[in-house]
Amino acid sequence: MTIRVAPLILLLGAGFAAAQCPNVHVFGARETTVPPGYGTAGTVVTSIQNAFPGATAEAINYPACGGQASCGDVSYANSVIQGVAAVANQVNSFNSQCPNTVLVLVGYSQGGQIFDDAYCGGGDTNEGLSSTAIPISAAAQKKIAAAIFMGDPRHIPGLSYNVGTCQASGFAPRPAGFQCPYAANIQSYCDAADPYCCNGSDANTHQGYAVEYGAVALTFVKNKVNAMLSGGGGGGGGTTTTGTTTTTTPPGSTGGTGVAQHWGQCGGIGWTGGTHSSSVPPRIFADLVYVSHRLRCAIHLPGRQRLREPFLLLNS
Ligand SMILES: *[C@@H]1O[C@H](CO)[C@@H](O)[C@H](O)[C@H]1NC(C)=O
Repeated sequence: MTIRVAPLILLLGAGFAAAQCPNVHVFGARETTVPPGYGTAGTVVTSIQNAFPGATAEAINYPACGGQASCGDVSYANSVIQGVAAVANQVNSFNSQCPNTVLVLVGYSQGGQIFDDAYCGGGDTNEGLSSTAIPISAAAQKKIAAAIFMGDPRHIPGLSYNVGTCQASGFAPRPAGFQCPYAANIQSYCDAADPYCCNGSDANTHQGYAVEYGAVALTFVKNKVNAMLSGGGGGGGGTTTTGTTTTTTPPGSTGGTGVAQHWGQCGGIGWTGGTHSSSVPPRIFADLVYVSHRLRCAIHLPGRQRLREPFLLLNS
């Protein structure tokens, strides 16, 4: 008797679970140093939920640190590594409970980087992530309709999904020639004045994307989600090709150590290139690539450390 009843209970159980599943579920990931939650990705997450009644959302639970004491001294690189693992765990676990739900990713700054790494694969040598595999399961990859990156430090010029005025690389760039297998499902917003996803010097630009591009991002997401809800298109490219793994050591850097270790923010710990290649003063000009990388990222540091950064650099 029990043997006959068991399948019925399983069937009812499955039906119940499916009824609890939303049509759309949004994952949001915040930027460095903001408190747990969606951070600046929040307004975009909410606008997507409002566009699809019944849609649910969850924040990626990861440190979002950049080496600050107030963040437990967790380095930027370590935070990204933990973030990529958290994305995979949360997305895979949601997808196994609700395999029919259409998924959307919205990441801001470091939050964009962890979604970029987890959805596109290819590894992240800037942060010591050597595996080039996509850690999101094949089943879940197929249910991701759209991914929005705002101020993603992995930005490089020329990708099909770039939106904005930036024509340079972020501080943790993809290697030249990188292709994401899900390019068609992505929009990555980055403007030239941004110091993190681009080579500018206006931190306000970096914080402004939800306002500047929120409406066009929502339109993109609605089109992609509606197409998947109505049974069209799978998860974009459909192949599981992973990206190339060319290292991103800048020209002129020949493996020094030196002051890069002082600097736990914005990829500094993951910096594997040289620091200064000449002992002849003024050394600050000795390796312009390193110096500009470091100064661009110093803006991430808490106030006093930021002010000290140019002096550390001169004396290193
Ligand atoms: C940023 O990079 C672009 C493209 O290489 C270049 O044209 C521009 O001058 C750079 N801007 C700054 C502020 O370095």
